[in-house]
Amino acid sequence: MSDARMFWVAGRPATGEQTFEVRHPYDGRPVASVSVPTAAQVEEAVASAQAVAAQAAALPAHSRAEALAHVSNRLAERTEEVARLITAENGKPLKWARGEVGRAVSTFRWAAEEARRWSGELQRLDTDAGASGRMAITRRFPRGPVLAIAPFNFPLNLVAHKVAPAIAVGAPVIIKPAPKTPLSTLLLGELLAECDLPAGMWSVLPLLNEETAALVADPRLPVVSFTGSGPVGWGIQRAVPHKHVTLELGGNAAAVVCPDWSSEADLDFAANRIATFANYQAGQSCISVQRVFADRSGYDRLAERIAAAVAAQRTGDPWDENTDVGPLIDEAAARRVAEWIDEAVAAGAKVLTGGTREGATVAPTVLVDVPADAKVSCEEVFGPVLVIEAVDGIDEAFAKVNASRYGLQAGVFTHDLQVAFRAHRELEVGGVVIGDVPSFRADQMPYGGVKESGVGREGVRYAMEDYTYERVLVLTGLDL
Ligand code: SIN
Repeated sequence: MSDARMFWVAGRPATGEQTFEVRHPYDGRPVASVSVPTAAQVEEAVASAQAVAAQAAALPAHSRAEALAHVSNRLAERTEEVARLITAENGKPLKWARGEVGRAVSTFRWAAEEARRWSGELQRLDTDAGASGRMAITRRFPRGPVLAIAPFNFPLNLVAHKVAPAIAVGAPVIIKPAPKTPLSTLLLGELLAECDLPAGMWSVLPLLNEETAALVADPRLPVVSFTGSGPVGWGIQRAVPHKHVTLELGGNAAAVVCPDWSSEADLDFAANRIATFANYQAGQSCISVQRVFADRSGYDRLAERIAAAVAAQRTGDPWDENTDVGPLIDEAAARRVAEWIDEAVAAGAKVLTGGTREGATVAPTVLVDVPADAKVSCEEVFGPVLVIEAVDGIDEAFAKVNASRYGLQAGVFTHDLQVAFRAHRELEVGGVVIGDVPSFRADQMPYGGVKESGVGREGVRYAMEDYTYERVLVLTGLDL
């Protein structure tokens, strides 16, 4: 093991007095030791963010865009190294880790482009006699420094989704990576340090979760952007009701397979997509497929295909190029998922495939005949578990999608444009994907939930809006 990894205070590398260890989820071996900031270093990061806020907001668009494009390019150059770091800390198979780096390259590239486009609006006010000769210019200005609290499941790209929009609008940002997966964010710090950004504009503080409450409460950080579990997220909102809080929380995403999605090719496609995206990252994505509502006309054929495709997923060592499904983040998480499976089975569910656990790895599992109140159905599993249910028609399918405390994304397999628009109108979620699983996400699209899935939106431009507020400038006495 090498020396403890340094963190970043106001853009400079630093070490603290204590360390914690990052372990590889597959076998528990130590991967790295990480230095923890002291209270004084945390104070320096916050004070610097506050001090630089006005300068950061006034940075020209080209400076912000060039910094973001630089990070994007450097991430692309270092893809393999960063992907290996993600696999080491998070345990996701290398092929998915490479995919995550590719997405972060895109997130930073989009932010560079949006920073150049970010201009505001012009509005005529001479639409009534009393406002003749008047015109409004509305621009958005940063609310202030952002506290970005990131999760372990996409340790790089969900950090990118907070940092890149902050830099794009000229808001200082303090990043708190997940304690299980700080390494790729610390490496991101190296790339940010190569940019010509004012000191204080960004810090990376690998704090333990229990040390974060003071930062959340700090009035010098008026924006808190949190991705993680519901109880923690809603706890943050309750703790600081006067702050601007964005919460990206969980879900139990559903896919609906409509009666018209019925050819052999249709069912093969849906089954393969569902099998892959119920289990990618061992189900540790807020939009992994957890519930499938299949029209009864095609249910048997679909369930059989899904079970076969899930059984064919290769489980094992995430370093093996052929592995599809690796471990969960730790053994405690895997034990909890296995308990939920056992509970459902005790309540009458049948296991079509999977249902076993070895260490931190849970075999991809398909369940049918699951009672509606079983946790694998109504809570967020965040593991490789899929529940399939037959429904009679679209009314019942959509009602079941909506009968959830969560509402992040839904997938609807249909060829019918009217059904697509109906899904868009009726499904209580932040995003509807037609002809594919709910797990589809392009990094520039709005992403976020309703109900207990959260508030606010990410997706570069949408987070830029979230981190800023509108300020109107009224000009008078103009010859229009
Ligand atoms: C999440 O788990 O919320 C993020 C999903 C994604 O970015 O694909």
